[in-house]
Amino acid sequence: MDDTRRPADLGAVHTALWQELTRAPHDKHHEWRTPVLATVDEDGQAADARTVVLREVDAAAATVMLFSDARAGKLAQLRAHPVGTLVFWSKRLGWQLRLRVQLQAQTDGLAVSSRWARLKLSPAAQDYLSPLAPGETLTSAPSSEAPSPVERGHFALLLAQVQSTDWLELHREGHRRARFDSTGARWLVP
Ligand SMILES: Cc1cc2nc3c(=O)[nH]c(=O)nc-3n(C[C@H](O)[C@H](O)[C@H](O)COP(=O)(O)O)c2cc1C
Repeated sequence: MDDTRRPADLGAVHTALWQELTRAPHDKHHEWRTPVLATVDEDGQAADARTVVLREVDAAAATVMLFSDARAGKLAQLRAHPVGTLVFWSKRLGWQLRLRVQLQAQTDGLAVSSRWARLKLSPAAQDYLSPLAPGETLTSAPSSEAPSPVERGHFALLLAQVQSTDWLELHREGHRRARFDSTGARWLVP
């Protein structure tokens, strides 16, 4: 990021990071469009993590939305431990962002059906139409032929409520790190 646009104080950092997050779902080239979502596995013995697409961001509510197959492993993990961390890195900005979130999966209701109504007309609908659940063992090598789809998509929303934000800026004149949570905003040693 060029020096004139670097946020100078904690308030400006907070505003700028939410602006970038809000842009990311609408910009296919935004590096923050594909964060890593880390969760706790079902028995609480290990971390798990995977890339996801950031679908919607509501800065005022401090929420972000993701899509998933309702049968995916991460949903079982969230039933046991409804917490996670979303990790973003942007080389362009020189910013890493870690969002500690509470996660809620939704598989029915208006929020789900309105998004599925839009999605089912697009090629991405295939992601939610497989007769087999994600992670199931295949008895033969995957083929490029699409499996016969199920009637209704196994589509779920993951609503992430941001509890705390850890921002790290890498910069040649000195790195900076800040934390934003319910107790306020503060600078941290990078
Ligand atoms: C670029 C990219 C984007 C992805 N986006 C999503 C997504 O938005 N939602 C999702 O559930 N999985 C997405 N995946 C697949 C996940 O990384 C993961 O393989 C899948 O969700 C199964 O993970 P789980 O068993 O932990 O649930 C994406 C993978 C890649 C490489």
